[in-house]
Amino acid sequence: MKKKILICGGTGFIGHCITKELFSKNHKVIIYDNFSNYVPPQEGHYPFYLQKRLEEIKDKAKIIRGDIRDKELLTKTIKRTKPNIVINLVAIPLATASNVFFEDAIQINLNGHINLLAAMREVDSVERIIYTSSSFVYGHFKYDPADEKHSTEPIDIYGGTKLSCEILTKAYAMRFGVDYTIIRPSAVYGPTDANRRVSQIFVENALTDKPLQLHGGGKDKVDFTYLTDIAHGFVLVALSPKAKNEIFNITAGEGRSAEEFANILNDLLPGKVKTIIKPADLNRPIRGSLDITKAKKLLGYEPKYQLEEGLKKYLDYIYSTGLFKK
Ligand SMILES: NC(=O)c1ccc[n+]([C@@H]2O[C@H](COP(=O)([O-])OP(=O)(O)OC[C@H]3O[C@@H](n4cnc5c(N)ncnc54)[C@H](O)[C@@H]3O)[C@@H](O)[C@H]2O)c1
Repeated sequence: MKKKILICGGTGFIGHCITKELFSKNHKVIIYDNFSNYVPPQEGHYPFYLQKRLEEIKDKAKIIRGDIRDKELLTKTIKRTKPNIVINLVAIPLATASNVFFEDAIQINLNGHINLLAAMREVDSVERIIYTSSSFVYGHFKYDPADEKHSTEPIDIYGGTKLSCEILTKAYAMRFGVDYTIIRPSAVYGPTDANRRVSQIFVENALTDKPLQLHGGGKDKVDFTYLTDIAHGFVLVALSPKAKNEIFNITAGEGRSAEEFANILNDLLPGKVKTIIKPADLNRPIRGSLDITKAKKLLGYEPKYQLEEGLKKYLDYIYSTGLFKK
């Protein structure tokens, strides 16, 4: 059955890709977004990539410019559009920025999500709320791969707001009879990322003859996930009855180190990758692989891209934009 899906944060990096896949399945998408980005404008090419995203979705999606902190507009939007499924992607999506601007992070990541839950009470159309959490809720991994039952002990504001929202979403769903699903992504990379995460910085540095900084020797592993894989995971979660009231790790399923990342990039861009060793960043949790067995079994989720193939596609995309020369 065709669904009406409200995506808060739907013009973002992950959101626009989910939107495209939902269109391909003929679902109706309404986007609520304030078009914001938390890296200095001269660094991440945000206006350029936002235009690229909008070109792909603006003709089909209903896009409403609004802030998740604006309870009145959010409530009006939900009352007017009566969605069946709500996906919340809004956050200061960077751990470092959430920690520096921590009061903003609480207002946007946490209070914004509470506004959304409160607005959903005004209609009886919503069947499921999908909350976008993060692998940061686990804190330092105690075992690898970390499954969804791993203890949740965030060590920073970003992870703290994500875990708070997970708890409130579950409690809300239990109390008010709505289904919930929580997704824990990790280190997403690919076309139109403008948030200056390590993947964007590494690729752009290699293309502009700048060194790649390997913190702590670059040995710590992170589960890098290609954009279309995470977007497909969201669509499976949105539409599958088996996702009801569940938490899923949705990633590539394999931790890779910054050193491996640099080596793969060096194979793709011979002679262009230089590295320097920097002190370890002690403010970040030590992570690794996420166990995606549950998503595979319940949803049939299967990531298509490991880092070798994903980076090649990402690089092809970056060349196609004309921002960097071959
Ligand atoms: N990209 C990753 O590696 C990753 C990993 C784990 C979790 N996540 C989570 O996924 C979600 C999406 O991340 P992304 O990478 O697509 O980031 P993004 O910055 O591209 O997307 C966030 C979207 O939210 C919108 N937004 C921000 N503040 C808003 C506000 N106050 N009101 C309304 N809209 C607002 C932005 O305009 C943007 O479109 C975030 O919640 C992030 O924490 C991302």
